[in-house]
Amino acid sequence: MSDEVDFITKSTEVPPLPKESISNALKVLNSGKLFRYGENNADGMYASQLETMFAEMIGSKFAIALNSGGSAIYIALKSAGILENETVALNAFTLAPVPGALENAGAQVLLLDVNANLTLGVEDLEEKLRIGNTKALVLSHMRGHIGRIDEIERICKQLGIILIEDCAHAMGAMYDDRMIGTFGDIGCFSFQTYKQVNAGEGGILVTDDPDIAAKAILYSGSYLLYNQHTNRPDEAYFSKHKGKIPNYSLRMNELCASVLPPQLLQLEERNTRWREIYALIASGLRHIEGITTIEVLPGVLMAPTSIQFHINDTKKIEHIIARAFDLGLKIKWFGSPHADGFTSNSTHWEYLSDFSTISPNLAGLCDIRLPVTLSDDQCRHIVQIIASSVGADIHE
Ligand SMILES: Cc1ncc(COP(=O)(O)O)c(C=O)c1O
Repeated sequence: MSDEVDFITKSTEVPPLPKESISNALKVLNSGKLFRYGENNADGMYASQLETMFAEMIGSKFAIALNSGGSAIYIALKSAGILENETVALNAFTLAPVPGALENAGAQVLLLDVNANLTLGVEDLEEKLRIGNTKALVLSHMRGHIGRIDEIERICKQLGIILIEDCAHAMGAMYDDRMIGTFGDIGCFSFQTYKQVNAGEGGILVTDDPDIAAKAILYSGSYLLYNQHTNRPDEAYFSKHKGKIPNYSLRMNELCASVLPPQLLQLEERNTRWREIYALIASGLRHIEGITTIEVLPGVLMAPTSIQFHINDTKKIEHIIARAFDLGLKIKWFGSPHADGFTSNSTHWEYLSDFSTISPNLAGLCDIRLPVTLSDDQCRHIVQIIASSVGADIHE
């Protein structure tokens, strides 16, 4: 390995939190007030500050902070009124917490195949969504790949289907200059360490619908302290639902909330660097024989924290991954027969009734994490490792 960069270790690297995040966290620890609500008031609480800031950043009316991205999807389904055994469609290219949230809500999961560009095709979507009287579509912008979201929004509206966007990998991404997370009735984000913005754990839900927002605040576990949310709908919406909505205790704690506002201020700058890293590696991979890169649709501005590519000869994948590992690069394989670490596919989610088939478009799909700290030279080095593992020359 030249220059001996160990990308296996590097791929789990995250930058330290900004100084302001650390001083906010210390302030919370010194105050002892780690719960977002106060007995009498919540003046100056970071959770409320985060919600106001996040709603403004995304361009939504309301934001509700939760303890994880998976909780955000679960609460989104509950607040949208999805009942036990109702059908919820989900694109098959996603990560385990997403089908987990649907199962938690008691939904019948209808898995929808993705195209080679890893997004839902719109040509036959209407037909597919008519199956099983589908009530909601959870659209996972998995690994930041964004399909024809304008068309998907139109189809869902036409069919009266609730659209929930899973934006865990798309914070700050756009389609036709519109923020991802605002196309759906509800958008859900994650603040887990490997996402764009890091609280260790955490999630947030955005919506313009005051009824959904009031229900989400009540479900999240606000007791009758919902008026401590600065960003909230009118009292009438709470009066309508309180007493009828259980407290699921899935709210965000103040310590997690405290580290987030300073990071949101850096999001655009970090996404710009991630886009450069992605473009550099994607342009290198495009010249490697035996590899197919993923097409990004016109109008999409990604917020990529990883990169995907297909290895065309699926029989050689295990061998190629082993060679890359020896050269210091960990490649994950979404089509693997075995779930491994964070990586799994629908054939591993046996609790779903519809679990047994894997999309042919995922069979050769590989993935590497892109730490925002990668230098341009390190990006070129990654391309070289992949080329030599595949046994191909780079054709410029
Ligand atoms: C695509 C996707 N959606 C949702 C989630 C859920 O986020 P969390 O880990 O915060 O529950 C994840 C988590 O990794 C994810 O990868």
